[in-house]
Amino acid sequence: MNNTYSQKIIEHFTNPRNVGEIANPDGMSEVGNPRCGDMMKLTIKVGKNEKDEEIVEDIKFKTYGCAAAIATSSMLTELAKGKTLIEAEKIGKDDIANELGGLSDIKMHCSNLAEGAMKKAIEDYRRKRGS
Ligand code: FES
Repeated sequence: MNNTYSQKIIEHFTNPRNVGEIANPDGMSEVGNPRCGDMMKLTIKVGKNEKDEEIVEDIKFKTYGCAAAIATSSMLTELAKGKTLIEAEKIGKDDIANELGGLSDIKMHCSNLAEGAMKKAIEDYRRKRGS
C-alpha cells in the first residue's frame, strides 16, 4: 500500500464495477471536476421495491479521470444499487471515501464527481417525469 491509495481503491480502480452506459436511461448526468478537468457520466434505471418505493434498479458510469475518481465512481454505484432514490441522493463523498478505506486530503476532491453525479442523475429523472 502506498500513502495515496488504499488497497480497496486500487482494487476498484483495476476492477471497476458497473462500467458503461444504460441505453434509454431514466436519469443521467455528466459532471466535470473544475480542479482537474476530469469527467464522469452516470446513467440510472429506476424501478420499485416491494414497498412501492422508487429505487436505483441499475446504474452505470463512465469516468475519464484519475484512479481515485474511477474508484469512487465504482464504489458509488455499489452503494447506490438497490437503494431508494431518497437514500441514494444522500450518499456523500465522505461515505464513499470511508467505504474505500479513506482518501488522502489531496485526493478528496476527486470524490466530488461521484457525489455530484448521483444527485444530478436523480434530479434529471425527477425533472423528466415532472416531479
Ligand atoms: Fe481529477 Fe482526481 S485528479 S478527479
